[in-house]
Amino acid sequence: MSWKTLDDMDFKGKTALVRVDINVPVEAGRVTDATRIEKIVPTVRDIRARGGKVVLLAHFGRPKGKVVPEMSLRVTLPALEAALGTPVAFAEDCVGAPAKKAVAALAPGEVLLLENTRFHAGEESNDPTLAAGLAALGQIYVNDAFSAAHRAHASTEAIAHLMPACAGRLMEAELKALDAALGDPERPVAAVVGGAKVSTKLDLLGNLVEKVDHLIIGGGMANTFLVARGIEVGASLAERDMAETARAIMAKAKEAGCSIELPVDVVVAREFRAGAASRTVAADACPADAMILDAGPDTVDMITEVFARCRTLIWNGPLGAFEITPFDAATNAAARKAAELTRGGRLVSVAGGGDTVAALNKAGVAGDFTFISTAGGAFLEWMEGKTLPGVAALGA
Ligand code: 3PG
Repeated sequence: MSWKTLDDMDFKGKTALVRVDINVPVEAGRVTDATRIEKIVPTVRDIRARGGKVVLLAHFGRPKGKVVPEMSLRVTLPALEAALGTPVAFAEDCVGAPAKKAVAALAPGEVLLLENTRFHAGEESNDPTLAAGLAALGQIYVNDAFSAAHRAHASTEAIAHLMPACAGRLMEAELKALDAALGDPERPVAAVVGGAKVSTKLDLLGNLVEKVDHLIIGGGMANTFLVARGIEVGASLAERDMAETARAIMAKAKEAGCSIELPVDVVVAREFRAGAASRTVAADACPADAMILDAGPDTVDMITEVFARCRTLIWNGPLGAFEITPFDAATNAAARKAAELTRGGRLVSVAGGGDTVAALNKAGVAGDFTFISTAGGAFLEWMEGKTLPGVAALGA
């Protein structure tokens, strides 16, 4: 599938409707992490430089089709203006008279943010009438919201069929990086999948074993796989009812020639708190009253050896309870090795989804990965091998 990009469009004097994902964390009326806002800058800058008017379409939170004042996008204006280095106008509604009036007032090079698209029920139902109301505001549709592309919503899907459409720079970068990691990667490929539960990542694991050469499983879900291999994990988090499923994944992996790597040693503690007394034991020696909270140093060595043999790495989820020391050690050490290999040009490393970015930031290596996706749910659905509606709608 191919997409048009900003380079295929003539923006001069035109109004570009740019779908962005600025669903950012906010505390006490202030944006606390502007990463997603900063990532849309290249697209907005390009369109402005080419004489286009920029109208930003976005959602914020989950207001479920109602106007919820606490979920107004107005709160993002200061961070947007700081990142874009220009004033940003605001319209109280994303369609209708307020939107039309604000668009009519725009001069080439100016930027307008429309209110939360999810204040309309038609957004999430992918309503053609809402999409038509949005499309009527401009001449070109640009989707720069990969992280919202797993949603078939009026502003991500239906609208793309109603007007000339293309991918923004961030969308382009995400698609290129993800293709380099799973679509057409340099082999061997390793995947790290961590996190609490196998049950939330079943499709993802099922897809990965057919695509990668080594699947490294960490976090709580590794305990479930240990149980599936008949190993006792004491008081650890484990989904015992998923053992059969884990065995089926291991069988599928074997058939596909994918090695599954589980912890060989683990860090155990009796309490889940920072600084809790802990010790390292073999993976099959977790005391009955203790919990596995991290992978041990031998496991880290095993993982880093796998990394060193691979050309591509895709990472989702921490290896242990990375939020609290000392149980962040394995995640930090493995992430540092991946960063070192990437810096040396030996590894293409792509990471994304939920806690992953927080874990890599904490390890201080996020800047050294080849690509860090801004996406949470969309990254996971892409790892599951699903077609993302917002991406498919851009297909030429
Ligand atoms: C995200 O934060 O992952 C995206 O903005 C999508 O949000 P949603 O899960 O509410 O659709």
